[in-house]
Amino acid sequence: MKSSIWIVDFGSQYTQLITRKFRELGYTSEIITLEDGLERLKSSKPKAIVLSGGPQSVFEDKTDYSPFFADKNLPVLGICYGMQILGQFFGGKVEKGVQGEYGLAKLHCAKGFSINGLPAESDVWMSHSDHVSTLPKEFKLIFESENGLVAGIKHESLPILGLQFHPEVHHTVHGKEVLSFFLNEVAKLPTDWSSKTMLESSLEDVQKVKGAKVLCAFSGGVDSLVAATLVQKVIGDDLYCFFVDNGLLRPQDIHTIKMLQEKTSLNIEIIDASELFLNALKDDKDPEDKRKTIGRTFIEVFEKKVHEFEASHGIKFEYLLQGTLYPDVIESLSPHKKGGKSSTIKSHHNVGGLPERMHLKLLEPLRFLFKDEVRAMGLELGLEHAWVFRHPFPGPGIGVRVLGQLSRESIRKVQESDQILYEELKSNNLYDSTWQAFTVLLPVKTVGVKGDGRVYEEVIALRMVNSQDGMTASVTELPWSFLNKVSSRVCNEVKGVTRVVYDITSKPPGTIEWE
Ligand code: XMP
Repeated sequence: MKSSIWIVDFGSQYTQLITRKFRELGYTSEIITLEDGLERLKSSKPKAIVLSGGPQSVFEDKTDYSPFFADKNLPVLGICYGMQILGQFFGGKVEKGVQGEYGLAKLHCAKGFSINGLPAESDVWMSHSDHVSTLPKEFKLIFESENGLVAGIKHESLPILGLQFHPEVHHTVHGKEVLSFFLNEVAKLPTDWSSKTMLESSLEDVQKVKGAKVLCAFSGGVDSLVAATLVQKVIGDDLYCFFVDNGLLRPQDIHTIKMLQEKTSLNIEIIDASELFLNALKDDKDPEDKRKTIGRTFIEVFEKKVHEFEASHGIKFEYLLQGTLYPDVIESLSPHKKGGKSSTIKSHHNVGGLPERMHLKLLEPLRFLFKDEVRAMGLELGLEHAWVFRHPFPGPGIGVRVLGQLSRESIRKVQESDQILYEELKSNNLYDSTWQAFTVLLPVKTVGVKGDGRVYEEVIALRMVNSQDGMTASVTELPWSFLNKVSSRVCNEVKGVTRVVYDITSKPPGTIEWE
């Protein structure tokens, strides 16, 4: 991406929201590490720099920040920890907080200071314990917290602003006005981001693979569909999409792939490997074992198919196309996530490991985009609304929705119940009011009564959640009449199921998938 504003990430959980908010305001920005920022400053110049929040304390930080302030015309915004860096660098005093400010707080504009659209008092999100207690010389106070602490400072003559609160967080009601003040009035930058420029710069990025053969592990989900459509626009039939049917798909997935084969000009080949997967999984009970078997089998099947295809067509693939999105890129950048400090909750199966094994270069044209931007790009590329707004579906599919050991019978129960849920969501116009919806087969039997007789059968759980990115989720509240209808249809139509429960756990502590 031709950029831009650099956001130096000190490990705040909110850093990627700064990029989001900037884009909503029409500006490109790029999240980089501190080391990267210091190195790049030697040879290039950003339009502005943002120093993010972070869990550290300036008292332990020995970094020399002078390169960030060497150019007096370079606009700098310090947020939370970033403001403390500015405060200390310019000779103010930072003190250790006794109790800190966490969560919602009231922000007051200092006397004589105002921002367009920002009331004199407003709600903001705070998350700090250290604070700037004495202003650096040449800085003026612009915001105070309700506890009388310094909440915002501005240099008298240079384009430098510090904010103790988080304007990027949704709970800061007027955060956008404050960020816009920095971009427009302090940094005086022209806008450079729109869905049109987004598509243009992604198309430009793909030009580099012209003339090469590109391989796509196609899932039919939003990301791989948009990525493939984009790349095909540039290289046409040099893009080959392979879809692996692992036998763990829902009826709607197969239907979608066949429809995409028919309705788009993408070159999609279906590899039926369901027998192989079911065989490989037959002794696995543990969720992680299942995930690993599915991931390994996928790689084996895919690699074999591609080698056969290359041999029979006399071609050699050079690139592997992946629908990686910006949150995944940031995740791998974060100083606190790198090196395995965060614990692995689930081993995600996508195509990890494939590029190295097959000596393929990676092509990730969506790597700077968020999910909603990918959807917008899909529409811009002429894809149908229903394809672009499909719910996410995990790589291991029904494999992690039948709890414990898999069998054809258990897979059938999830397929049939999921289809009922899907049909009811669609016919009641509720599909778009939930982020993800699916059914899970529980490994328990309960007693019930069907047609006056006793039955001893299994249980289906309904899972429907609202989320933005899958990192956190809350339960979707759907009408009882709808839930009743689904429950009644599942018990009547899915052989072997007599009970339906509704999972009302948010994430955390639950995860979205049950395994
Ligand atoms: P969890 O269960 O971790 O899921 O809360 C968060 C989101 O990720 C999806 N998910 C996966 N997606 N490969 C994927 O491509 C996987 O292995 C995988 N596991 C979970 C899940 O459906 C939800 O949207």
